Amino acid sequence: MLQQRIPDPCALVIFGASGDLTRRKLVPAIWHLHHQGRLPQAFHLVGVARRDWDDDLFRQKMRESLAEFVGPLDDSARDAFLAKFHYVRGDPGDPATYVALKARLEILDRECGTEGNRCFYCSVPPQIYRDIVEQLGRAGLSCQHRDHHGWCRIIVEKPFGHNYDSARELNQALHSVFTEEQIYRIDHYLGKETVQNILVFRLGNSIFEPLWNRRYVDHVQITAAESVGVEHRAGYYDQSGALRDMIQNHLLQVLCVIAMEPPSSFDAESVRLEKLKVLKAIRPIRIGQVDRYAVRGQYGPGENALGYLQEEDVPPNSRTETFAALEFTVDNWRWQGVPFYVRTGKRMAKRTSTVTLQFHQPPHLIFAQTDALAPSTLTIRIQPEEGISLSFNGKIPGPDVHLGTVNMDFSYADSFGGRTPEAYETLILDCLLGDATLYSDSDWIEQSWALLTPILDAWQAPSSGEVPSYPVGAAGPEEANELLGEAWRKWAPL
Ligand SMILES: NC(=O)c1ccc[n+]([C@@H]2O[C@H](COP(=O)([O-])OP(=O)(O)OC[C@H]3O[C@@H](n4cnc5c(N)ncnc54)[C@H](OP(=O)(O)O)[C@@H]3O)[C@@H](O)[C@H]2O)c1
Repeated sequence: MLQQRIPDPCALVIFGASGDLTRRKLVPAIWHLHHQGRLPQAFHLVGVARRDWDDDLFRQKMRESLAEFVGPLDDSARDAFLAKFHYVRGDPGDPATYVALKARLEILDRECGTEGNRCFYCSVPPQIYRDIVEQLGRAGLSCQHRDHHGWCRIIVEKPFGHNYDSARELNQALHSVFTEEQIYRIDHYLGKETVQNILVFRLGNSIFEPLWNRRYVDHVQITAAESVGVEHRAGYYDQSGALRDMIQNHLLQVLCVIAMEPPSSFDAESVRLEKLKVLKAIRPIRIGQVDRYAVRGQYGPGENALGYLQEEDVPPNSRTETFAALEFTVDNWRWQGVPFYVRTGKRMAKRTSTVTLQFHQPPHLIFAQTDALAPSTLTIRIQPEEGISLSFNGKIPGPDVHLGTVNMDFSYADSFGGRTPEAYETLILDCLLGDATLYSDSDWIEQSWALLTPILDAWQAPSSGEVPSYPVGAAGPEEANELLGEAWRKWAPL
């Protein structure tokens, strides 16, 4: 039986503790870790924000968030958990905030046994990340001082930069205060059970890996579709768009996990190295090639649904894409000639994230069936209805040889039951344990932006033409179908 690892005693400091992410995701995730006995006895959480709260009000707000996002809890267990919460009021750009924070952390070290171990979580709007990093450095809170006992790590939320130059600048700012080993750049897709299971599926079985290459795979599709529009995030989303919001981070990470070579061991260094090799093997799309390899779209109005341009806080002339589809070519022995199609969009037919490997057709068909055979596919459902299905042709019972498509299906819920941990639980625990396997490193981030920045530049150019519109509930604009080129290639149904 595998022994559960418990992190060292520590304090988790959340900048932006009054925000949406803290209440909806972080505090519920930390509750689940606490409830499962995955946190050390001496675990304390320090919230930092400008809001005029104190310890009591912070605990009260987090009690409400637990009620909303976890459900009814035993009062004494919940209150014992919240007693470990503390609040430091201050602006993340103000040095005085860090004087107060340092004093509070030292009290926790002395009186509550957190032993000088600190994890700082930047859960503020991205333009504030740099302030926090610089102020932590100036206040001597990066644990670089030789008199400091204990470790120190920093988690940086997404988005990490908005193009190649800004990501590089943020990396430089971080590296001027922290070493790369101290920096954890979050991509919550990597914390999802189904994404981690891709590696287990590929490398924990010997039957799939022999098929996992150009000899058997015709192409790969990676889809992340949402049925909702921008909701209350229009201010952020209009500056971002689908390419930055979903493809630069989540979908490229999934592509890397699908395409990477088997690492020699499951440790951060080996896994990151193999994923980086995939990114470096992707053929860059130059500005002049963008129309051939990339399609964008914007959702129009539908029945009972506003179009993107009518949404609150969206400029009426916005050219931000709410849909993006790209074709990537991975130039290596394993994947030569196998296109990787990646697409994401809002207000599509349904919410679903999947990876589909479509296999080659048989080289010669001996059956008299005239209509085209459906190709065999392997579909990994990342969310919802997490699972894997293999679809292939079988004989329909009867005197004639008629072929029909059948499915073999594995469902997480049916096979394993229970509650699937949220990505944030896995990622926060990993960081407290010092395991960066599921986090992005600086080289990966910069390389991903280097691949996408020419596309962003081409789309932002005034001469780049109209952004095609697609109806609410569609699978994106018509133009996305042309991306697949060959007639037998079709986007997997949503
Ligand atoms: N929410 C999500 O589901 C989600 C998902 C993925 C990634 N993220 C990322 O996680 C981070 C936090 O997201 P969030 O939705 O929680 O953000 P948020 O609610 O907009 O902001 C978090 C907190 O940051 C503080 N803040 C806001 N503007 C500030 C400013 N100009 N200067 C100093 N402090 C400021 C505010 O606290 P005070 O006003 O009290 O100081 C606010 O409560 C962002 O980088 C976001 O991109 C969020």
